[in-house]
Amino acid sequence: MSESNIIIQENGHVLTVTINRPNQLNALNRETILELHEALKSANQDENIGVVILTGSGEKAFVAGADIKEFANFKPSEGQELSAWGHEILFNYIEAMDKPVIAAINGFALGGGLELAMASHIRVASDNARMGLPEVSLGVIPGYGGTQRLTQLVGKGKAFEMIATAGMINADEALQWGLVNHVTTPEELIALAEKIAAKILKNSPNAIGAAIRAVNANFKDGLNGYDKEIEEFGRCFGTPEFVEGTTAFMEKRKAEFRK
Ligand code: HXC
Repeated sequence: MSESNIIIQENGHVLTVTINRPNQLNALNRETILELHEALKSANQDENIGVVILTGSGEKAFVAGADIKEFANFKPSEGQELSAWGHEILFNYIEAMDKPVIAAINGFALGGGLELAMASHIRVASDNARMGLPEVSLGVIPGYGGTQRLTQLVGKGKAFEMIATAGMINADEALQWGLVNHVTTPEELIALAEKIAAKILKNSPNAIGAAIRAVNANFKDGLNGYDKEIEEFGRCFGTPEFVEGTTAFMEKRKAEFRK
């Protein structure tokens, strides 16, 4: 299936979503954000899908940010509305999905592009990738979660440096910082994401969803991550997947969670 700004490919239990505006370096306009939301929502509801891979089309960019041309004339209220809308339907939505999203960063991941990668659960990058939050060079600040998620991922000191300098780091620096998990060649990038997906797909979908909720809880205001872990841990015991996982261990065979 193909829509105007994204390409969707289903391969087994993996859905690959490619942002496809290469002439604008895959910048996120409202239409693209809406299409991404629809695709991710249906993936989240589809039992057949266990992992989503997000990437950008072309050799140059993952996503070069929010579409600057779209918001250049905005008033403060419109800026705030855009930010709140994006948080809700895309960035927070991805983070809270029941299945892991792997960002395969194939080039520039700037501003909203890096924020999209950071909202994903796992990041892998090609060795030509460049990452940054250049918003202060435009007179704004990161508005799709960057001030929070970059700080969570790399710590306050490095986050401040990246945000205040508006500078970019390369893939190896991102690996050193802990901003991405793995770096490979552009040719091997999707295969690497698929290899991680294949490992995830061997495990209990229910338990993976529970783990995402427990990990996220620590970063939410007013929630105690340890309490959430205890609650989600207990809930796993009532599932057929728990019976299958533990029975398979006792029977010295591999668990089968998927048809
Ligand atoms: C709209 C963009 C764009 C963007 C690139 N383009 N980034 N259009 N929004 N974020 C367009 C260019 O205008 C140009 O189209 C085409 O893509 C190719 O880009 P070039 O600039 O010609 O390429 P190059 O010289 O190689 O430079 C690459 C680049 C540069 C370094 C990545 O494009 C760049 O600095 N882009 C902006 C990066 C940025 O500031 N991102 C943060 C955005 S703010 P035309 O048609 O003009 O030739 C943000 C806020 C998030 O993300 C929060 C919102 C609530």
